[in-house]
Amino acid sequence: MKTEVLRYLKEADGYLSGQELCERLGVSRTAVWKVIRQLTGEGYEIEAVRNRGYRLGGSDDVFQQTELQSVIRTKTVGQNLVFLEEVDSTNNRAKQLAEAGAPDGTLVIARQQSAGKGRRGKTWESPAAGGIWMSLLLRPAITPDRASMLTLVAALAVAEGIENTCGLSALIKWPNDLVLNKKKICGILTEMSAEIDCINHVVIGIGINVNIKELPDELKGVATSLYLETGKTFPRSLLTAAILQAWETCYELFLQTMDLSALLERYHQLLVNRDKEVRVLAPGGAYDGIARGVTATGELLVEKTDGTMTEVLSGEVSVRGIYDYA
Ligand code: BTN
Repeated sequence: MKTEVLRYLKEADGYLSGQELCERLGVSRTAVWKVIRQLTGEGYEIEAVRNRGYRLGGSDDVFQQTELQSVIRTKTVGQNLVFLEEVDSTNNRAKQLAEAGAPDGTLVIARQQSAGKGRRGKTWESPAAGGIWMSLLLRPAITPDRASMLTLVAALAVAEGIENTCGLSALIKWPNDLVLNKKKICGILTEMSAEIDCINHVVIGIGINVNIKELPDELKGVATSLYLETGKTFPRSLLTAAILQAWETCYELFLQTMDLSALLERYHQLLVNRDKEVRVLAPGGAYDGIARGVTATGELLVEKTDGTMTEVLSGEVSVRGIYDYA
């Protein structure tokens, strides 16, 4: 009922009378009042005026379960929402929930991670104030060799969500990162449990530095946050909901073809590496080239200095710009 009250208050143009709320919800005035008290306890500013009713005050970045549920507009993803105050890693929790039978589309999100995981065994800084640390549990009917494309779909959804909510053009650094002004603002860690020919589940972990005001010294040169780049605070609930909505659209397109063909045009517009020099750190030795785009199955197309084109797989190399981070 809390979610519904919050949604009605948000949709109301000004005050919403207690009577109206009671009728819509089919409950007593006391029950409505109790819910209003719970919401104010969670940090919402709600004005209560005799003979007029209730009105929601502006709160910049309320980030918790009720708020999120009231703004999520998807069919599947995030409908089963697990919001945690603190967890070691949302990816770990999502994997545990997957083993216990949690449904496709479950979203695990935490205010803080005590052992956030980055790629290649690195740790991921996940302070309580200002980040979105979330993991999406999927059970896609695709073969395991196609799963790495999901990271690219997620990157596209994050870029679209940031554009739609914050009006900022974050770009994708293939395959796992998003950058703003050439510094990293988002990292994606995709993990999978599979048999030889079928997927049990995939967990897509997404970490976004949204309203973080200070980064550790060692990250300052390479990472940033939306706040640090703009001086503005952004509502994490709305941003999360926008990312989920973009995800759902992109994922449906992906599932229709089981590849990225329907998403490639948009992906290329957002690809920071496109037509830039890159150094490919392949297991057999590093080489330089120009990134020309990605294939429909997600490999990076790199034109070598001798003019030949190679397809770089995300799993086996890391690609860095030669002159700067992106
Ligand atoms: C990287 O760039 O190395 C990937 C970072 C992924 C971080 C996110 S935060 C939410 C999810 N839970 C984790 O432990 N890691 C991912």
